[in-house]
Amino acid sequence: MERRYFLTLAAAGASSALALTPLSLSAFVSARQTQITAGKTRLNIAGDGQPDTDLWLYNQSCPGPMLRYRKGDILRAAVRNNLDVPTTIHWHGIRNLNEMDGVPDLTQAPIEPGETFDYEFPLKDSGTYWYHAHNMGWEQVARGLYGPLVIDDDDDPPVDHDICLMIDDWRLDNDGQIHQASLGSLHDWSHAGRLGNWLTINGLSAPSFQVKQKARIRLRMINAANARVMTMQLDDAQATLVALDGAVCQPEQINKIVLAPAQRADVILDMDRGTLKLSEVSTGEPYPAGTINVDPALGVSSLTKAAVNLPAPPKLPSLKKVRRIPIHMQGGAMGNLQSALFEGKEKSLRELAQQHKKLWAFNGAVGDYREIMAEIELNSLVSIDVYNDTAWPHAMHLHGHHFWVLSDDPTVALPSGQRDTWLMQPQQRISLVFRADNPGLWLFHCHMLEHAAAGMGVVLSIN
Ligand code: C2O
Ligand code: CU
Repeated sequence: MERRYFLTLAAAGASSALALTPLSLSAFVSARQTQITAGKTRLNIAGDGQPDTDLWLYNQSCPGPMLRYRKGDILRAAVRNNLDVPTTIHWHGIRNLNEMDGVPDLTQAPIEPGETFDYEFPLKDSGTYWYHAHNMGWEQVARGLYGPLVIDDDDDPPVDHDICLMIDDWRLDNDGQIHQASLGSLHDWSHAGRLGNWLTINGLSAPSFQVKQKARIRLRMINAANARVMTMQLDDAQATLVALDGAVCQPEQINKIVLAPAQRADVILDMDRGTLKLSEVSTGEPYPAGTINVDPALGVSSLTKAAVNLPAPPKLPSLKKVRRIPIHMQGGAMGNLQSALFEGKEKSLRELAQQHKKLWAFNGAVGDYREIMAEIELNSLVSIDVYNDTAWPHAMHLHGHHFWVLSDDPTVALPSGQRDTWLMQPQQRISLVFRADNPGLWLFHCHMLEHAAAGMGVVLSIN
């Protein structure tokens, strides 16, 4: 079949406060109850004339249904599992109640086949988020279990069109099916993760979006890929970056943006042209991702195009009293890890790989979703000081909190606001600083989902 292939495998390689007492739900508006069913569905994602693909989806839709709320709402979702394997949903980026965070065997029991779990939690922040399976995420997300979660705010800058772009790279075989042999491949797990060869936005190959003439549009880009770090190019347009990972940033003019797995970027731009091409350019060869087209039948925008006004991002508090948690990331291919602690025993990397599929470690120990790395006092200021001692980039995500990113390396471009996922380049050292104001057991892990499964994840306990 004719398909534009990404350069796979080697390409992305080494060269490369609200009130803090337990929240009372009564302060929030109760929105409708949403039904979400995880199940198997055959759907066309491989393009016109291509066979349908066997997928695992929410509500038979790719991506899952758009969950759209207002800040201050309560999200209520009854999640039914129609798969043959256990699952859960994690609400990525939400400062959630711990028991609603969706981490199997840590914050809840897995939802067994045929069972339903009711999620219910307040939405304290506006912005662009997403939800995805968190049990064997490396397989379940790769098969399609994810969807967008957008929370509106009365103060959002007015736009004519608000367009969510959920970007994924699928690994398809020649029959247009999910490539099986690579699911669980030790090679992928020890290198960049499982990279795909077929790009979709909202489950479609190079879709087009119709907008008014002279429209002001907001694009909410979400990287839902297992492992690919995307670079999205917005033609030569001047777009205003307004949020990263759901959180407001200092407005900045950009025309391309790097998105690691799980990261989001919101931009606002004015259509001063008939067509705007979106491409993914991380391999050096632009891959057409989609287009925005003016459709005269939709009329002309009547919005005044004033400069976008945003509230200031929250200020970093003084670091005089900060709890430091140093984490050295180790392991993987071309790394210098010889052995690591696993289930109480020091084991060679070769034994870890061949017998346990573990390949990565933090501070000499293979990470584990059941192991508490640090006990943190509620409301303290914490700095996770991360050293990437591996040959690979890693998208480090903290559950339940957003963090500031600091570095004493002047070559690192730091975000102006907070984030929930940070792309660590090889050899980079960085501090992820956050107020530990959300009690519970929170994961800190790599969002290259194969790396997470192979040892790049630990638990922080806050209470
Ligand atoms: Cu979106 Cu634990 O991750
Ligand atoms: Cu990683």
